[in-house]
Amino acid sequence: MIEDKVDILRSEFPIFSSNPKLIYMDSAATSQRPKSVIDKVVEVYNNYNSNVHRGIYAMAEKATQEYEDSRKEIASFLGADSDEIIFTKNTTESINLIAYALLPRLKRGTITITELEHHSNILPWRKIASLAEAEIRTVEVNEDGEISEADFEKKIPGTSLLSFAHVSNVAGTIVNARELVKKAKAQGAMVAVDGAQAAPHMKLNLHDLGADFYALSAHKMLGPTGLGILYGNKKLLDELEPPFSGGEMVKEVHKSGQEWNDVPWKFEPGTPNFVGAIGFGEAIKYLNRIGMDEIEKYEKKLSKILLEELEKISELKYIGPAENRASLLAFELNGYHPHDIAAFLDSRSIAIRSGFHCAQPLHERFGFFDGSARASLYFYNMPNEIEALANALKELVKLQ
Ligand code: ALA
Repeated sequence: MIEDKVDILRSEFPIFSSNPKLIYMDSAATSQRPKSVIDKVVEVYNNYNSNVHRGIYAMAEKATQEYEDSRKEIASFLGADSDEIIFTKNTTESINLIAYALLPRLKRGTITITELEHHSNILPWRKIASLAEAEIRTVEVNEDGEISEADFEKKIPGTSLLSFAHVSNVAGTIVNARELVKKAKAQGAMVAVDGAQAAPHMKLNLHDLGADFYALSAHKMLGPTGLGILYGNKKLLDELEPPFSGGEMVKEVHKSGQEWNDVPWKFEPGTPNFVGAIGFGEAIKYLNRIGMDEIEKYEKKLSKILLEELEKISELKYIGPAENRASLLAFELNGYHPHDIAAFLDSRSIAIRSGFHCAQPLHERFGFFDGSARASLYFYNMPNEIEALANALKELVKLQ
């Protein structure tokens, strides 16, 4: 159980020894990294830094092997095959990649998203919709920040592509992804899932989920920054034209034409972030050692404590459901601007995010026109830190 070893786990994260007072509650923006991941990145640069899939000297072969081994590790963690795993820069780039690759298939079609989305799952679709003369439909959420079933049923017929967040980075809603995928597929739609806030916190099996695409970011799950994953259904990936081209994504280039590389490399033009990818493989090993089931179980407890403690503050108003929510809470406090809340908490060494969290339409939906203050947790957080957050907020209320 994580409860019994959280101190040991925390000791494996250098950030906590460098900042002994730090109460880090901004993991939805980026998680912290364990020493094993940092060491792995340093090991690559120190010992076998060389470009992948290019040189035939031993050191380059080693880097390539580590890069591809990491892809296998990630694929198995996600319940996918390694030729379905494309390395990108982040979730945002993964979604843009899907959008541009699907452009020809979305001509005068319909793209359906939901009110829960952050900008990365809105703006690429707006852009593609304008290029493809496609319609965008947005499924409404109810007062609890849950997707309206009735509106979903209404909007899904005729949809060419459904794209939705598995977990909301603001409302904390855990979407029943399997159900949405099943219903959308039954209507003949393709489905893309934004898993940026889900993949760090729950066990996934992407084959089982059945979506065509799944996007995530390494830096939110102990991995290095600048690395994202795009999972794509192999058959679809084989069929799609790569929207971006250049070196490495091509097998042969002649004066008169070219032949694209196989999947997944067809979608990885240029030198990839191979150091990040190798580091992410190490992060996956770390997560596997703890166990995603254990992480999910522990975070459920943290999430409950977070809501219980913060709900005691009558001046606090939050977005999202009261139950079955992710371990984050976005809130307002008695008219304080979210940045003032964050600055006050910072003076107590509590790091939270304030603003719109790249999801302004969702804040507007709930009348949070100045944004919100958001505490977001991970398995290295502890109940006494939540208590410290609640006490600091009570102190702030009293100052008024
Ligand atoms: N979308 C990320 C967040 O929620 C960056 O903070």
